[in-house]
Amino acid sequence: VNETAPKMLIVLGSTRQNRQGEAVARWISERANARADARFELIDLRDWPLPFLQNPTPPALRRYDDTTQPWADKIGAADGFVFVTPEYNHGYPAVLKNALDHLYREWGYKPAAVVSYGVAGGGVRAGEQLRQVLIELRMVPVRDQVGVSLIGQAFDERGRARDERLERMALTMLDELVWWAATLRPARLLRSASSPAA
Ligand SMILES: Cc1cc2nc3c(=O)[nH]c(=O)nc-3n(C[C@H](O)[C@H](O)[C@H](O)COP(=O)(O)O)c2cc1C
Repeated sequence: VNETAPKMLIVLGSTRQNRQGEAVARWISERANARADARFELIDLRDWPLPFLQNPTPPALRRYDDTTQPWADKIGAADGFVFVTPEYNHGYPAVLKNALDHLYREWGYKPAAVVSYGVAGGGVRAGEQLRQVLIELRMVPVRDQVGVSLIGQAFDERGRARDERLERMALTMLDELVWWAATLRPARLLRSASSPAA
C-alpha cells in the first residue's frame, strides 16, 4: 500500500474474556487490509488500559497525563476509524466510551465507520448510540453500517460471513470510509490552529 494513503485504525471495543469481538474485528480487518487505497491497523483496547476518566482538565485543553498522551498520539496520527462494538444492554461498552472520552481534538474531522454485533439484532442499537457520540466528537460517521448477528455462527470456516449481504455492506462501508478519509485529510490541514477544534 502507498505510504501516503490514509492511515486508518480499526478499534476493537470489547475487552471481555472469551469475547466474540476478535472474530468480528478479524473479519473486517481482512477486508480492509485487502485495499490498496488505505492502510489499516487493528488496535485492541486491552492494549490501552486507560483508567476510568480521572484527568483534572477537560480533554479539549490537551493537558494530558503520561497515561493519556500515548493514546492521544495514536489517535491523533490516524485519518479515520472503524469502531467494532458489541451491544451490551442496547448500548455500547463502557470501555469504548471511556476511551473516546479521554480525547477530543484528536478525533475531530475524521470519518468513522461502525461495525456492530449482537446476538440477533446485529447490535444496531449500540451502533446508533455510538454514532451520536461520534458526532459530538466532531467525527464524520459514514452512513453505511454493518451489523453482525452472532446467532448460528456468523462466519464460515474460511472466515466469510454466512450472510452474503454483510460482505457487500462491508465493502460499501469501507469504500465510503476511505473516500471520506482521503477527502477530509487535506481539508483538516486548511483549518487554522486558532479554530475551536483544529
Ligand atoms: C453485559 C452484556 C449485555 C448484553 N446485552 C445484549 C444486548 O442488549 N443485545 C444483544 O444483542 N446482545 C447482548 N449481549 C450479548 C452480546 O452481544 C454477546 O455476548 C457478544 O458476544 C458480546 O460481545 P463480546 O463477546 O465481544 O464481548 C450482552 C452481553 C453482555 C455480556
